[in-house]
Amino acid sequence: MTFRPRRSVLYMPGANDRALEKARTLPADALILDLEDSVAPEAKAEARSRVAACVTAGGYGRRELVIRVNGLETPWGSDDMAAAGAAGPDAILVPKVSRAADVARAVLLMKDAPAHTRLWVMMETPLAMLKADEIAGAEKRLAALVLGTNDLVKETRASTAQNRFALVPMLSLCVLAARAHGLDVIDGVYNDFRDEAGFRAECEQGRLLGMDGKTLIHPGQIATCNDVFSPSPEEVAWSQKIFAAFAQPENAAKGVITLDGKMVERLHLAMAERVAAIAEAIVG
Ligand code: COA
Ligand code: MG
Repeated sequence: MTFRPRRSVLYMPGANDRALEKARTLPADALILDLEDSVAPEAKAEARSRVAACVTAGGYGRRELVIRVNGLETPWGSDDMAAAGAAGPDAILVPKVSRAADVARAVLLMKDAPAHTRLWVMMETPLAMLKADEIAGAEKRLAALVLGTNDLVKETRASTAQNRFALVPMLSLCVLAARAHGLDVIDGVYNDFRDEAGFRAECEQGRLLGMDGKTLIHPGQIATCNDVFSPSPEEVAWSQKIFAAFAQPENAAKGVITLDGKMVERLHLAMAERVAAIAEAIVG
């Protein structure tokens, strides 16, 4: 099994040259070069060609490169899809999908993109929450769901207060949909980017819910996010212990054993293998 770490996924405005350049050296697992909400209408065309040129030029190392296009219903959507497809990033992120047909439409618009270019979608409308299963299962090209919590707050009138408890059902629904269809799922952004303690707590909450990583808006958030979403030394050590225990000849035929006073089954062995693979993928 090979894993692509998607712990830290940093947005940057496609019109911001300095950010696009700086990103070549930032320790984020993935970069979303944005053409949508962070780019003003009059800067859309310029940002589109700038982002396409950046992807074509490369120099981003192991970082996964993602272009976020404007909604397919907007005046820019089709041109963005064409330019992004021609540039051939690792993925194209399509905002505001609400049903399987929206995903199918995006895939159709990717017909000239290279095969390695996957589709990611924003989960940020009330209807997308209700149809998370059909969206996640719509197309093979889909690789990840990305929570758009700012839009969800706007559309649902729910609040992020009190540890996002009003959003938790939506976050969990997306985790379930992603897991049911073998996709990754990335948590929404934390707007107060100077509040380090609040940010760490929200990363931890996302990890607890089963998120693979978190979307970020500022380079100052990367280190904390990588830390929270990496397997801890304790988890890695426990995984090694499970491997060693099941490797003992007397346990070869056993489905369940006792380790440090705890029940350990073969499903825990499978989980330990995943932890080890992620830890290995992170080191590179
Ligand atoms: N990606 C890459 N570099 C970034 C960055 C980002 N998202 N955000 C800031 N930087 C860089 C700045 O260019 C600056 O670089 P420099 O020191 O070499 O000049 C440095 O980090 C420090 O920036 P800072 O002054 O702390 O932030 P700011 O006030 O300039 O910008 C934001 C704050 C929120 C406007 C900016 O971080 C941003 O645009 N974030 C992304 C917004 C976005 O994409 N939203 C859409 C999805 S929600
Ligand atoms: Mg949005």
